[in-house]
Amino acid sequence: MSQDLLIHTEAGVTTITLHRVDKKNAFTQAMYTQLTQALGVAESDPATRVLVLQGDVTVFSAGNDIGDFLHHPPTGEDAPVFQFLRALATFSKPVLAAVCGPAVGIGTTLLLHCDLVYAGDNAAFALPFVNLGLCPEAASSLLLPQMLGYHRAAEALLLGEPFMAEAALEAGLVNRVLPPTECNAYAQAQAQAHKLAAKPLAALVATKRLMKQGQQATVLERIAQEAHAFGALLQGPAAKEAFAAFMEKRRPDFSACQAS
Ligand code: COA
Repeated sequence: MSQDLLIHTEAGVTTITLHRVDKKNAFTQAMYTQLTQALGVAESDPATRVLVLQGDVTVFSAGNDIGDFLHHPPTGEDAPVFQFLRALATFSKPVLAAVCGPAVGIGTTLLLHCDLVYAGDNAAFALPFVNLGLCPEAASSLLLPQMLGYHRAAEALLLGEPFMAEAALEAGLVNRVLPPTECNAYAQAQAQAHKLAAKPLAALVATKRLMKQGQQATVLERIAQEAHAFGALLQGPAAKEAFAAFMEKRRPDFSACQAS
């Protein structure tokens, strides 16, 4: 296990900490693979009753590592990122997330598959897929319009402009906003996690399954559909220009990119 993820289990709560702060916790292919493995272990291990996903007080995640997009593009449904998303979307036990600072791309969309989300008041959510020449993933093209309403989801996904913790709270994406230092210690999230860990697991699992089963198949189908569109766009000129611009620390120029 690399040091980009820290995993700790205590008193029924498994905490996964994103720990690649020098790169703003951007997800690499290796991190997705490790996350999928960790979710698999947590799913079957009776020592895990609740899962907590957390980042740093300054940053939750800058989303997918852009260099990895260039060198290891997720070309099919079985790419590590999509395996991780399926594992998270189907994880049977309660999942909490604690989010401080930027939560970009998958750093926001993965939250749609968490049961409880706590945010530091410095949290900034952004879905800049279009700005990168890409489309949404994690079934966010389905779940975000359901959660925010179509027009606010369109604003988030088409414009890709960040929105802050209070707006996320109002939209229902997060349960509660806290001072970042509290969120960093995850006092609230872990207090909630420990409350959940003390509850009967079979009842929690059944309740979560019942809340989700109405559209579980649709969510998985949408993750697959998005994966196809995402893979195709990743090879396109707009994504190539966006990634080159990011690496060269300049603004992208999409003027030569056509509709298809
Ligand atoms: N992939 C790879 N490296 C990334 C990264 C990403 N998604 N996000 C940040 N980094 C790296 C930067 O290149 C920089 O590396 P360097 O120190 O070697 O130059 C380092 O992390 C710090 O990033 P920086 O941009 O200087 O931090 P910041 O505090 O000014 O801004 C963000 C933080 C998250 C707002 C900004 O880094 C950002 O917008 N990142 C890209 C987000 C993105 O588009 N993700 C893809 C979503 S699909």
